[in-house]
Amino acid sequence: MDMAEPQGAAACANAEQAAEWDGPAGAHRTRHAAVFDAEARPHNERFRAAAGVSARDRVLDVGCGTGQTTRDAARAAVDGNALGVDLSAQMLDHARRRSREEGLTNVSFLQADAQVHRFPAASFEVCISRFGTMFFADPVAAFSNIGHALRRPGGRLVLMVWQARDRNEWTTAVREALAGDNPVPPPPAEGPHPFSLADPAVAGGILAAAGFAEISFTDVREPIYYGPDPAVAFDVVRGLRSTRDLLAGLDAGEADRAQDRLRATLAAHQAADGVFFDARSWIIAARRR
Ligand SMILES: C[S@@+](CC[C@H](N)C(=O)[O-])C[C@H]1O[C@@H](n2cnc3c(N)ncnc32)[C@H](O)[C@@H]1O
Repeated sequence: MDMAEPQGAAACANAEQAAEWDGPAGAHRTRHAAVFDAEARPHNERFRAAAGVSARDRVLDVGCGTGQTTRDAARAAVDGNALGVDLSAQMLDHARRRSREEGLTNVSFLQADAQVHRFPAASFEVCISRFGTMFFADPVAAFSNIGHALRRPGGRLVLMVWQARDRNEWTTAVREALAGDNPVPPPPAEGPHPFSLADPAVAGGILAAAGFAEISFTDVREPIYYGPDPAVAFDVVRGLRSTRDLLAGLDAGEADRAQDRLRATLAAHQAADGVFFDARSWIIAARRR
């Protein structure tokens, strides 16, 4: 991992995730940044309201990707600032460019592993993360490290994470389309993956063990958007890691048929203003003890 700042030998504890996010996933999300920014717009409106960033807040955005949420936070923190942290150099370059174009002067970005990066202690009022905290090899260590960076006591944590896979049509419909008449391959049961914080008992236990209290979960059910038409949606979905992994297990003929079924599913979800799937997330809020 080619860090933007000297990090020290122990600075990346998530090498497999870094290889993906600082590799093909980062390139894909940068190429389709406009779609991914629009993907979860209604979820994001709820998230931004829950984050409740105040004028003087110093905000840490973990797993900020191309930085939409960091820029939102910087605009709210008019007398404060926002720092976005991510594993992907390419997404951070995009985030910096967009921030310059928007004339934001109180925002910065850092390529680092939030699980182990040595943030200055108690240097943020609030940590936000939209879908950026489900990929830690050691979640208790990661949230403890993030908690160390928050003001004590009372520093706020506001996360958006996916609810269980079977509540998220955007993934079940794609997996079923790719599988066809074959059984849908079981997703990873544990370790870092998009649904690792879906169970409130698990996520709440991790946050409590990491030093957080007043932990709450708010149900958000809103559609997600995969693009203006099925062709763009296919390109977006085809580039997701889960799709790449499922197709990689098929021979060439099976892969062609699976992709045809995927195109048909995406076309069936075309509405007047784009391709949409049902989706459910949690907003998790907590405070540092
Ligand atoms: C699903 S993307 C979400 C990106 C962005 N927050 C958004 O909503 O568009 C997950 C992001 O988390 C980042 N990420 C994963 N593990 C991380 C870690 N240990 N430290 C920092 N960022 C991480 C990835 O690089 C990726 O950009």
